[in-house]
Amino acid sequence: MKILAIETSCDETAIAILECTGDEQNASFKILGNALLSQIEIHKPYGGVFPALAKREHAKNLIPVLDAALEEAEMLREDTQAVSHDVRNTIAKLLEREPGLSEQLFELLSECEPPAIDAIAVTAGPGLEPALWVGINFAKALALLWNKPLVAVNHMEGHVLAALAREDGDELVIKNVAMPVLALLISGGHTELVLMKEWLEYELVGQTRDDAVGEAFDKVARMLELPYPGGPEISKLAEELRSQVTRKQSGRPEGGDPRTFSQESDEERPFTLPRPMIHENSCDFSFAGLKTAVRNLLKNRPDISDTDKKHLAHEFENAVGDVLWKKTAQALEETSAQTLVIGGGVSANTHIRRVFTDAVAKETPHVSLRIPTAALTTDNAIMIGLAGYYRALREDLANPPTLTASGNQSLARVV
Ligand code: KG4
Ligand code: ZN
Repeated sequence: MKILAIETSCDETAIAILECTGDEQNASFKILGNALLSQIEIHKPYGGVFPALAKREHAKNLIPVLDAALEEAEMLREDTQAVSHDVRNTIAKLLEREPGLSEQLFELLSECEPPAIDAIAVTAGPGLEPALWVGINFAKALALLWNKPLVAVNHMEGHVLAALAREDGDELVIKNVAMPVLALLISGGHTELVLMKEWLEYELVGQTRDDAVGEAFDKVARMLELPYPGGPEISKLAEELRSQVTRKQSGRPEGGDPRTFSQESDEERPFTLPRPMIHENSCDFSFAGLKTAVRNLLKNRPDISDTDKKHLAHEFENAVGDVLWKKTAQALEETSAQTLVIGGGVSANTHIRRVFTDAVAKETPHVSLRIPTAALTTDNAIMIGLAGYYRALREDLANPPTLTASGNQSLARVV
């Protein structure tokens, strides 16, 4: 089955075309085409994603991104390329409408001949509703026009399946997954521990009571006057400090441990941050207090030096890593999960990946840890294609007239 997948839930406009085979237990995916346009530079001056702007950019980007994905998949026909600039601009304007399926949009898109695909998958939520609507309107129009089934995908299910996928030659495969699977989903909008006992059945094990971890990274970065998105910036500073400390310690008999600063003297460790809820008997998280603790530290230091910024970034990351692992370890014990996956944009974080890799090896070696490949950690359309295929296998199809954007769509049942 060939699936064309569309992702517009936040600030990436992405389309992928996947050739999918196999069943839930043993699925393979060939990526025929994959195109992505990031809006990060456009949102940077606002210090976060500005929904109205995201919507406008998605509307403008969808046709060029579709062209690029079709071209890579060798499915782009000459007549599609012939869609003029004026027509593209008009399509973009029409896509910004909600619900937006006008006769005119149909007429204009009809210039694109149907490619050899079997279904269209689109992110329906969670995410920014104005942004989601653009992708949904586009997907509905293409599905009706090309007479293809439409599959509505939960973005977080995409993150889970992307984390379960492994590279195998030039394919992605999902196989040999030991159940139950515990998923730690960490992104700009989510921080949750979700249990999958059977394929595509999710139970909520724990969640943040306030800020999402990615949001905390972004807010702390802003306090340190670092650009948006803050996660990679904080990671860069913290890693610089770790490599300095490791170099310094390499002469010592015990060597350096990049995971923690345990060998560092208090003089070298100018900041200490709390590990919120770490001793509570619950798998929930809280990051608002950590963010406030950083703000309070900064209040007393109006001119923070570059070295202090590194120390703060480092201590913040250590606190986040400690809490994420502690709660995940508790959830692993409570659920007897056999597989652990980490998904969502924050799972790109080098320190968090290292903490989990080391801790699983030491503390829960019976658990198989799966972390997505770098390209699959942040938002992309490949993950929407993976989830779209799993849903299509179950004939879980959307009805175009009633499909709506669902900003807060949850993945897991509360049990
Ligand atoms: O999953 P994602 O791409 O979009 C959402 O669905 O939210 O996640 C974006 C979040 C942002 O908060 C960003 O700062 C964070 O992921 N992020 C990181 C890193 N790369 C992205 N956080 C920490 N370290 C990173 N390397
Ligand atoms: Zn995401």
